[in-house]
Amino acid sequence: MPSSDDPNFINRDQHFADAGIYRIADDLALVQTVDYFTPVSDDPYLFGQIAVANALSDVYAVGGKPLTAMNIICFPCHKLPLEDMEAILQGGLSKMQEANVTLVGGHSVDDPEPKYGLSVTGVVNPQKMITGSGAKPGDYLVLTKPLGTGIIVTALKGEFLSPQEASETFQGMAKLNAGASRAMVRAGASACTDVSGFGLVGHLQEMLISSKAGARIKMKNLPLYRRVSEMAEQGLVPGGSYRNLEYYKKDLIVNTEDSELQEQLVLLADAQTSGGLLISISPARLEQLLAELHKEGSQGYVVGEVTSGPKGKITIN
Ligand code: CO
Ligand code: CO
Repeated sequence: MPSSDDPNFINRDQHFADAGIYRIADDLALVQTVDYFTPVSDDPYLFGQIAVANALSDVYAVGGKPLTAMNIICFPCHKLPLEDMEAILQGGLSKMQEANVTLVGGHSVDDPEPKYGLSVTGVVNPQKMITGSGAKPGDYLVLTKPLGTGIIVTALKGEFLSPQEASETFQGMAKLNAGASRAMVRAGASACTDVSGFGLVGHLQEMLISSKAGARIKMKNLPLYRRVSEMAEQGLVPGGSYRNLEYYKKDLIVNTEDSELQEQLVLLADAQTSGGLLISISPARLEQLLAELHKEGSQGYVVGEVTSGPKGKITIN
């Protein structure tokens, strides 16, 4: 799309920005985002919860506070019971209430394939917002949720896992990034993005490009949901994750003779639904961040470091 020249559209040059930031006063900007997708769970209430946690995440990633939301729902009215649609919306509402977000409207479409999500309006102080472009060499990279939701959802669809075995992952996806966001704002993070469809590798690479830096990731420090590596070894990986890997391979620096490491690369690229925040934090503030995350009931996994270069490249070891 052509770029805008509206000076109040603060992040108009960041093509991969999580949300649009629009200044309405010196110390106040709107944070606007929209996200919706097809069901990741057979349980309509849980699907609603996950879709809302995911849609709010882009506001949390900039350190903003979501205020209002509108439902977007597509549903095959004559093929599935309307109770399912109600359960999706109720699940979504439960998460909005947990997040203190006011539902102010919405729109529905009769559609052969169900889809649900939100358009969200939040606020942030533009002088204090956190973007993807502030990562500095020497920073630590902290991830707030495990990886592998794409793999687990694929394994569940193929009936390689029972819903019980996948429940930890589903609870993870339904978890709001609100607490993690408050923690990183208090600790003074240098940069942040949320991990979603492009996987850890894709969202990290965007951050590195806009921060003009590189990174190092330690494969064995990657947090994974239960059963993820086992399912990945069996090839239960969604097409989107392989496509991510194919696309971002050019940005990875990895020992090609280490076949074990090569096989694990897909974990870095797994497309995440409602993934965690990826936070870049200076070494002096790392301990405070981990303490703040703990206080908020959130996880914090140190997965790597930001380096001065090569710019936009991720070294894996
Ligand atoms: Co995002
Ligand atoms: Co998004």
